[in-house]
Amino acid sequence: MTAPLTAAVRNRPPPAIAERVIEVRDLTKRYGSMLVHEHLDFDVRRGEIVSIVGGSGSGKTTLVRQILGLEAPTSGTIEVFGRDTRAIDEQTARVMRSRIGMLFQQGALFSSMSVFDNVAQPIRELGRVPAPLLHDIVMLKLEMVGLPCKHASKMPAALSGGMIKRVGIARALALEPELLFLDEPTAGLDPKASEDFVELIATLHRALGLTVVMVTHDLDTMTALSTRVAVIADRRVLVAAPIEEAAAVDHPFIREFFLGRRGRRALQALPPERRAKLPPAALVSASAEVSL
Ligand SMILES: Nc1ncnc2c1ncn2[C@@H]1O[C@H](COP(=O)(O)OP(=O)(O)OP(=O)(O)O)[C@@H](O)[C@H]1O
Ligand SMILES: [Mg+2]
Repeated sequence: MTAPLTAAVRNRPPPAIAERVIEVRDLTKRYGSMLVHEHLDFDVRRGEIVSIVGGSGSGKTTLVRQILGLEAPTSGTIEVFGRDTRAIDEQTARVMRSRIGMLFQQGALFSSMSVFDNVAQPIRELGRVPAPLLHDIVMLKLEMVGLPCKHASKMPAALSGGMIKRVGIARALALEPELLFLDEPTAGLDPKASEDFVELIATLHRALGLTVVMVTHDLDTMTALSTRVAVIADRRVLVAAPIEEAAAVDHPFIREFFLGRRGRRALQALPPERRAKLPPAALVSASAEVSL
């Protein structure tokens, strides 16, 4: 399932990296006595694809939810598109939300609504949109994510995991956002569906000039897409850098995640000039090791 857009943008350069669109400073987040984030800093620039990685429960989803304004920080500041998220009125917050698309970790779609109604829902929330226009917008979004229009009347239960993610992306793109958040977009997908998903995100990044922030455990997806990877450990962003630089940081999580057998195998997909910058421990052949 290749989106028709893919061929059209294959030779186009990726969007230029420009101004900061997210700036998180000295963020602390507590739930009761549990400290999730402490003095955390995090930046994303327009045109980037930033992957957030970290152990389970390290606070990746919580960081995204705070940036989206779905969760309040305990202290610290979060600026999105240059605006402090705590100091804006409801009208501005609504406009900001329309500039941001989100594919959640769980419950990507409303199970009681058809594909069409799922994608139409954010547009309908805006107010009255004439039915023929709504129809065209929804079909265009489905086309954009490589889903033939014949699926529009189906219910989510009748779709494969990869198709559900595509519909979720179509819905996240409904209001033409500049910034797209993806929380574990390839979790539960088979390797082929994950590869197709990577191609789709790379295509949308080029075609729409999107900025993408993606939480993932999937080393192959991370390696294929990220301009930078932000590693959350010890309640903060330990490093946010191109993969080859992040992999060189001396920390137990980084050793386990990037330099374990699966990590080293995934890093082989980096282009040679970037592989040359990896630490020596990342270059030990992954296939030479006997797996038990
Ligand atoms: N609403 C909440 N109330 C209390 N604790 C919460 C809440 N949301 C998250 N937590 C806790 O905060 C910590 C971070 O959770 P979070 O979901 O951000 O982790 P994560 O890095 O996304 O993990 P995973 O990789 O499993 O998705 C966890 O210990 C979690 O139990
Ligand atoms: Mg999570």
